[in-house]
Amino acid sequence: MTEPSFYGLMDLVRGFRPAKVLLVANDLGVFDHLESPLSSSQIAARVGADPRALGILLNALAALEVLVKEGDAFRNGEAASRYLVHGKEEYRGAILRHMHHTWWGWSELGETVVQGAPREQEPERWLDRHAETSGDWMRDFIWGMHALARDLAPAVAEKLDLKGVRRLLDLGGGPATYAITFAQAEPGLTATVFDLPGPIEIARENIARHALQDRVATLAGNFLQDGIGSDYDFIWISHILHSHDEAQCRLILEKAVRALNPGGRLAVQDFFLNDDGCTPVEAALFSVHMLAVTPAGRSYTWRETAAWLEELGLSGPVQVDTGPATSMLVARKG
Ligand SMILES: C[S@@+](CC[C@H](N)C(=O)[O-])C[C@H]1O[C@@H](n2cnc3c(N)ncnc32)[C@H](O)[C@@H]1O
Repeated sequence: MTEPSFYGLMDLVRGFRPAKVLLVANDLGVFDHLESPLSSSQIAARVGADPRALGILLNALAALEVLVKEGDAFRNGEAASRYLVHGKEEYRGAILRHMHHTWWGWSELGETVVQGAPREQEPERWLDRHAETSGDWMRDFIWGMHALARDLAPAVAEKLDLKGVRRLLDLGGGPATYAITFAQAEPGLTATVFDLPGPIEIARENIARHALQDRVATLAGNFLQDGIGSDYDFIWISHILHSHDEAQCRLILEKAVRALNPGGRLAVQDFFLNDDGCTPVEAALFSVHMLAVTPAGRSYTWRETAAWLEELGLSGPVQVDTGPATSMLVARKG
């Protein structure tokens, strides 16, 4: 990135505006009604909004090319039509709602930076402290994880080369996207998805959707407190460490290494920072997101994570890119 000019600074500052416009439209269900063109007053009547106010929002969405404006009517652009209309196979509105649910943390970021951590308000904000977590917030979070992972998982499976893996654990597997994809990629593999009781219900829904109940099992529990099973040849830990403090990260990795068979492999995927602590930009901003919405999370550098794995006696660890802003560390026991 190049250093911003004054107008560049202003672009950064105004960054919240398109985000909020899109998030509010998604919450209102605007895109469900725009597969064919409608005027702003027709849409306002359907979603129960004020016509003048919604018209302003729709024009901004057209300016952002999320909607297409034809005369006085609006219809979905390609991405809105594909990803933001309920009921479509590729529907991914949950991840937008999840992002919107975390907005509070950004509104209170100033206070958090002064205090050191966000204040605890509603129980669902602290998933790991409420093992029975349920409800819309949790569903959006977990289906949102599926929306993010579904395109990336097949390439990850290929890079991991799972040939010969018999028993795999997807620790904190959420919607089971990776476990499902790994089972599809390697016919001899059976997987266990471990997660909190609420999210594990969604994993079961997703596993059933893919008709993989005979090869992908679930185990409900809290990985900071409960047993995670044993005799695994491969353990996959994706987007888990960043919401925990260093001691918790070490505990999670230690438990995983104990559950791994000799010669087995462990892979940790995350928004790893480089040694400089400030690149790539997505990992640096994701770290702020974790500061804003978790008690003690942050992005870790791949090197400090690799050092934890080495301290636990694993060999390797090799870093492999997995997405636009993510990578994984793959290491072997013994
Ligand atoms: C950011 S999501 C990642 C989901 C999935 N691994 C992926 O990469 O798409 C974090 C997951 O960790 C789970 N989780 C958080 N704290 C947990 C705990 N203490 N015990 C078990 N699972 C936990 C959450 O429920 C959620 O499914």
